[in-house]
Amino acid sequence: MAEPHVLLTGATGTLGQTLRPELAADGLTVRAASRSPPPETADEWVTLDLTDGTGLERALEGVDIVVHAATAPRGDSEAVDVRGTERLLEAAADSGVSNFVYVSIVGVDQIPYSYYEHKLAAERAIESSPVPSTIVRITQFHSFVFDLLSTIARLPVWPLPTAFQLQPIAVDEAGTALTDYVTLEPHGRCAPLGGPHVHSLGDLARAYRAEHGHWRPIIRLPLPGAVASGFRAGAATCPNRTVGTTSWNAWMATHSDKTS
Ligand SMILES: NC(=O)c1ccc[n+]([C@@H]2O[C@H](COP(=O)([O-])OP(=O)(O)OC[C@H]3O[C@@H](n4cnc5c(N)ncnc54)[C@H](OP(=O)(O)O)[C@@H]3O)[C@@H](O)[C@H]2O)c1
Repeated sequence: MAEPHVLLTGATGTLGQTLRPELAADGLTVRAASRSPPPETADEWVTLDLTDGTGLERALEGVDIVVHAATAPRGDSEAVDVRGTERLLEAAADSGVSNFVYVSIVGVDQIPYSYYEHKLAAERAIESSPVPSTIVRITQFHSFVFDLLSTIARLPVWPLPTAFQLQPIAVDEAGTALTDYVTLEPHGRCAPLGGPHVHSLGDLARAYRAEHGHWRPIIRLPLPGAVASGFRAGAATCPNRTVGTTSWNAWMATHSDKTS
């Protein structure tokens, strides 16, 4: 039997870049997709824009499994994450896809942040579609927290919602755990994937500051509202699912070249 053919959306993204070689190493034939494929590559790439469906038909031709990791957290997430996912699902149904793997985020059902609401709407569209599916929620990547703190690090004082609870995970460990679900059989809604420790954002920022030799004051930013209270209550964490093993400090030690 031929190797299963996988369409990976968001292949140029943080997760997509680590997933692509992992899936290929597992013996799967990977078709990578994004709006801007690299100009020269030996791998199979397609140009896909989920906001208007450009490239969808070609992307799904002969595909057995979809791994949907495209997202627009800083753009129009309703167009990409909700409408784009619905569009992708319709095309997946027409192509007879046997497993539609969706990457989601821990806490999307409890934290009413608009991007999370769009991720939740995408989860619901997937569950109500006839396409067999797998939904895996993951906690924040170390690189995401790092980039956030690197932006703040330029300020003379660091105003942060220090009581937010996070459980960051190394993206390569999340990718490795995710590949277990990339099979011809769907897995339904799966247990979440989290990093090794739950930390407050204040603790993560203090460790970051020490790692980079900054000594700027960290000021607690009091944020009102349901989004902030959800993060403070730990809704973005899954302490019983510590899948990643690389700690925040260990991850920073190997990424010090990315310092601000
Ligand atoms: N970052 C985190 O901490 C984190 C944590 C847990 C779960 N997740 C989830 O993991 C998944 C991957 O996240 P990530 O951080 O790797 O995302 P990312 O780095 O922001 O990458 C987003 C990807 O989506 C593609 N994309 C954006 N707009 C598109 C469009 N209109 N049509 C087609 N492709 C489009 C981008 O490629 P082009 O720009 O080339 O099109 C890129 O490849 C997402 O579902 C996210 O919610 C992320």
